[in-house]
Amino acid sequence: MIKITKRISEIQYAIRDIVSAAKEYEKEGHRITYLSIGDPGKYGYDIPNHIKKAMIRAIKENINFYVDSEGIGNLRSAIADYENEKSGINLVEEDTLVTSGVSEGILFTFAGMLENNDEILLPGPSYPPYSSYAKFFGATPVEYKLDEEKAWQPDIDDIRKKINEKTRLILIISPNNPTGSIYNEKQIKEIINIAGEYEIPIMSDEIYDVLSYEEKVVNPASLTNDVPIIGLNGFSKAFFMTGWRLGYLYYHDPLEKIKDLSQNIARMARIRLCVNGPAQLAATAALKGDKNYLYDFRKGIEKKADFLYKRLNDIPLISAVKPKGAFYIFPKIDLNDYWKDDKEFTLDFLKEEKVLFVYGSGFGEKFGKNHVRIVFLADYKTLDDAMNKLEHFIYKKIK
Ligand SMILES: Cc1ncc(COP(=O)(O)O)c(C=O)c1O
Repeated sequence: MIKITKRISEIQYAIRDIVSAAKEYEKEGHRITYLSIGDPGKYGYDIPNHIKKAMIRAIKENINFYVDSEGIGNLRSAIADYENEKSGINLVEEDTLVTSGVSEGILFTFAGMLENNDEILLPGPSYPPYSSYAKFFGATPVEYKLDEEKAWQPDIDDIRKKINEKTRLILIISPNNPTGSIYNEKQIKEIINIAGEYEIPIMSDEIYDVLSYEEKVVNPASLTNDVPIIGLNGFSKAFFMTGWRLGYLYYHDPLEKIKDLSQNIARMARIRLCVNGPAQLAATAALKGDKNYLYDFRKGIEKKADFLYKRLNDIPLISAVKPKGAFYIFPKIDLNDYWKDDKEFTLDFLKEEKVLFVYGSGFGEKFGKNHVRIVFLADYKTLDDAMNKLEHFIYKKIK
């Protein structure tokens, strides 16, 4: 066998890795209920028509060539306007960079910030690619605690305890995947103060920032002018454009402390030529167009959050905190001696009931273990059936 790198052989991504187990059952003729992937399009949420039309128009008008590596000017200025309006800041087109999804923004930022043996402080639990990419660059992802007892709020003392001279970035994801929790203004200010003391930037994943249903999301850029903020956002979740792979980075950096970073990320962007051009015109239409559909979407997911929260807490061995945003709930499983760990629980449930969750330790060994993540974008009947199956599965075990 030809030798491959250790770097690539060690990559793990629980959300997609677990799907291969489900595919095996499908091959045997079983129907699987997937409550594992955070993709609105897979559950019938359709991209609004004005966005689709803009994509089709771009293709018909032959905007099918390579476009600017940093993104089409109109989209970049629309992004700046959109962020300025949300956070009362002063971005210009040059403070933005269009990426193939937030995923590429993570890759670019880490490529620019992380060397061997550096550390990044990230929420535990959190979206897995952050720790996978950090390791890919030889750095160590260090989980800071989101406190389940306090509705998964960030534990600021834990951040203080874990930060040191090797720390290069502090990551905030609010609303968070997988917990649906939101950092409040005071907590964000405290994190900004810590980042300021250590003179490091904050990386802020805001992909769910317009999908909160309980409290307003405060983005860190609105609270500081001297700690640099690298913001990441995109069109997958609130605009349902997952498959079109479109996102962006923005730099809120009035004192130009990360100018070197942004300029060099732009150079890195050139080596991958550009991001899908027609999708960028569609994204421009998305930002400039009507966003009223979001109101119904938020109301809908809020009700589903409520529904699952109640159902889950009525099932023995399971307890859940109610999410405040996004479309994930992260219940704790009292494994007892029935299952060795959360992965075994997830696979056993899949085998017995043919419903797929993601095991919690995939979101962070320390703070994710003994949990599962459930995506609640499916319709009520599907969610209700899945809860009945979970109930049946647990009662069978404990009887
Ligand atoms: C917190 C978070 N960031 C980023 C992403 C990926 O976004 P994109 O589709 O823009 O790459 C996800 C997807 O689930 C996510 O949950």
